Amino acid sequence: MNHVEQHYNKIAHSNRPFQTAYLRALNNSVKFKAINTILQKLEAHEKPITVIDLACGRGGDIVKFLKNVCVKRYLGVDISKTSIDEAKNRYGTHMNGCKISLAICNLQQSFPPSRPSSVDFVFCAFAIHYFFSNTIFQRVSRCLRGGGTFLFLKINKERLVEMDGHSTKNLRIRVINEKSYDFFLRGSVDCTEHFVVDSEIFEYAENNSFEVKQICSFVVFFSTRGGCPQFYAEKIQRFINKTSHGNIEEQNQIFSLYDVVILEKKLISLNK
Ligand SMILES: C[S@@+](CC[C@H](N)C(=O)[O-])C[C@H]1O[C@@H](n2cnc3c(N)ncnc32)[C@H](O)[C@@H]1O
Repeated sequence: MNHVEQHYNKIAHSNRPFQTAYLRALNNSVKFKAINTILQKLEAHEKPITVIDLACGRGGDIVKFLKNVCVKRYLGVDISKTSIDEAKNRYGTHMNGCKISLAICNLQQSFPPSRPSSVDFVFCAFAIHYFFSNTIFQRVSRCLRGGGTFLFLKINKERLVEMDGHSTKNLRIRVINEKSYDFFLRGSVDCTEHFVVDSEIFEYAENNSFEVKQICSFVVFFSTRGGCPQFYAEKIQRFINKTSHGNIEEQNQIFSLYDVVILEKKLISLNK
């Protein structure tokens, strides 16, 4: 078992720390807005929607998909057995008229079984750096139908490098070299991660019949969709004042590290 798998198995049962509650609220809001943006576009086709959630963790995003009644099939995969077991316990096999499948899968080596051109939406939150490669783009492209969407959330290299050396009890960032960095975020991550750079996104997109629709920072994505950080800050600040834990400014810094990437599979596919 590798370090990443071990880490996520270990934290799967633990409660998320309140020191990063504000960041989680913001992240969840971005995910909800991102998922909704795509589902609203897909529901116009008035066909049942199939989604795949790559590295779904404990399945915390399932309900964001199932709020849309057109989603009839959800397949979530993750390398962590403990996370998948927990997701199964939390959500079962059916909810809101949607069939839920959850499976263990190491996305560096394999991909969830799916017929070519059968999936409408592939989603991947905070995990693409573990298996970012031309191969994963190829596999996603193969399962998506023309016009389908591949959306992922990733760290922005330039903004992370600006925070190199940051070290507090909740967050530590250390750039190792051009390709990788150590990232510790209390209760979420404690691993070496790999940079996902825009030039490679464009290259892999081009190789695999994707059009890059948008690469946009969380801050811009959130605010242009009516998101208001102050709303969450005020709610959580009261809690922080009571407990004297958590640092809003630091959590805003972490939030600003991330980008939303939206790719659309071209209608005329040149897939091999
Ligand atoms: C930061 S968590 C994100 C989980 C979930 N997507 C979310 O947003 O809450 C990263 C996830 O990636 C998974 N992961 C890491 N390497 C993986 C791999 N090679 N294949 C599949 N999942 C992997 C971990 O087990 C973990 O659940």
